[in-house]
Amino acid sequence: CGIVGYIGHRDAYPIIIKGLHRLEYRGYDSAGVALLDKELKVYKKAGKVSDLENFVKGINTQATLGMGHTRWATHGAPSDRNSHPHSSGNRKLTIIHNGIIENYAVIKEALLAKGHVFKSDTDTEVLIHFVEDIQNETGLELREAVRIALTKVVGAYAIVIMSTDEPDQIIAARKGSPMVIGVGEGEYFVASDATPIVEYTKNVIYLNDNEIAYIRRDDLLIKNIDNTVQVPYIQRLDIQLEMLEKGGYEHFMLKEIYEQPRSIRDCMRGRIYPQQGKVQLGGLKEYADKLKNVDRIIIVACGTSWHAGLVGEYLIEEYARVPVEVEYASEFRYRNPIISEKDVVIAISQSGETADTMAAIELAKEKGATIFGICNVVGASIPRTTHAGVYTHAGPEIGVASTKAFTAQVSVLTLIAFYIAQQRGTIARNKLIEYLTELNEIPELVEKALKANDHIQSIAAKFKDSRNCLFLGRGSSFPVALEGALKLKEISYIHAEGYPAAEMKHGPIALIDDEMPVVVIATKHSSYEKVISNIQEVKARGGHIIAIVTEGDTEVKGMADYAIEIPQTAEPFVPLLATIPLQLLSYHIAVMRGCNVDQPRNLAKSVTVE
Ligand code: G6P
Repeated sequence: CGIVGYIGHRDAYPIIIKGLHRLEYRGYDSAGVALLDKELKVYKKAGKVSDLENFVKGINTQATLGMGHTRWATHGAPSDRNSHPHSSGNRKLTIIHNGIIENYAVIKEALLAKGHVFKSDTDTEVLIHFVEDIQNETGLELREAVRIALTKVVGAYAIVIMSTDEPDQIIAARKGSPMVIGVGEGEYFVASDATPIVEYTKNVIYLNDNEIAYIRRDDLLIKNIDNTVQVPYIQRLDIQLEMLEKGGYEHFMLKEIYEQPRSIRDCMRGRIYPQQGKVQLGGLKEYADKLKNVDRIIIVACGTSWHAGLVGEYLIEEYARVPVEVEYASEFRYRNPIISEKDVVIAISQSGETADTMAAIELAKEKGATIFGICNVVGASIPRTTHAGVYTHAGPEIGVASTKAFTAQVSVLTLIAFYIAQQRGTIARNKLIEYLTELNEIPELVEKALKANDHIQSIAAKFKDSRNCLFLGRGSSFPVALEGALKLKEISYIHAEGYPAAEMKHGPIALIDDEMPVVVIATKHSSYEKVISNIQEVKARGGHIIAIVTEGDTEVKGMADYAIEIPQTAEPFVPLLATIPLQLLSYHIAVMRGCNVDQPRNLAKSVTVE
């Protein structure tokens, strides 16, 4: 879910609505605002932020204090009733909340016994009634009542509270769910990430877990939950407004696909020295010795980041000769994993906020492992809990389906593989010079791969009505196939599966008929001949082949129904190039099917619940 709040001298509503649009990637099941002028006004609506806007149109929204919420439903259906903000029984207090209050049922029972009446099924409404109840019982001021309530709840939250009794205050708190405070002049902003804030101020404070911020127009006080005053650390943001806008593209996803030459370049900047055959990763410097002697690496991640992890496994094992295991964070955390101080765990997360990945890190930390993060969002929760890490520097990714973040993760993992190889001496210097020289060219080659866009669009037109699709690849192209299938599934709702090409004969081959498109990554590398056999197996059963081939290839082209060329490159970099046409293919199919590409149904970009 996404949260925005404002207190200052400007009109709060437009700031909040704009901010909610920026945060919509975090969920779009319902949206709501609370505005406090002379009186409290609350508007909420199931659906997207634009539905809320239409609903509020024509109503006087004037206020210089307010907050808003865009929700990804967990407890309770995405109805108007369950939308945030929620109010207390006396209607004086209002809250928005991201996260889950685990012990809400017990608290609710006690409050029901005292005569509280609830309007929704949410844990959030229970929390605000609880604060009201503490005030009623003790006569404490709001600040103290909120703090006491938070000491009693179990769970994860980012909350913002306002009260009609105190029209010059908002209270924000965090535990396990992100919260950023923007510091302006005579005004403050709060939000789940910095994107709603950047156009007003570049000065931000990332609230830490168990901290509560008491914010007035001219004063900010941060305390921890035990009531000790904290000294806030103000950081400068380095994101620009243009990064958050579509810049002439029809969708964020397309813009982000086209940004990849730049994002991959940014990710490598200052980290590779081709002429010297050297990789430098400042973030891992202190751990160079650890990596030199490491016996095993475990990668934990979810979704697309997990696919990047699988590419990483191929690269690290091949070049650094260290055994790697790649685990879904959600599985890892509950299986009592065998792990010790000797292990290095790499957590990959675009958002740096995914709850399962966070929990996997905590667990590995308890067991003494060294944890590295590969994250995109600077200052997010994961990079702040890991021992060290490497940022992907892809810039804000807004489209819910991940594109440039994936190629940036793969780029970082490629660098890490070479970095470890360098420490361990498992790669010859001249080989490294050769590879790094090639890697340095990848942004230009990605640019070239993007030129196939029109051709890919025409292929998309042929397959837009398919009901199923198979993606095949071998070696490090297998995770690329998995990612290709996930993209298509996510944004076009066509059922798709990724498979290692040779595994097809053990099951998926039964699905092949003359309606089945099969996308095969068949570049001229080590398993080229073998993939050709797999293509023939598909052809023999009437399937339609869309092949991703190396520029100039004739053999596969001759067999395939459609071929998409990518530039020739060295084997370790094939995933970076082969991913591009698959992204474009999914994109065009989804557009042709009339799907909401940037905000596919039921998904959220940042999943901060289990
Ligand atoms: C969600 C998103 C995916 C993403 C996954 C992991 O499911 O929709 O695109 O890959 O979370 O997110 P992370 O931020 O940890 O990479």
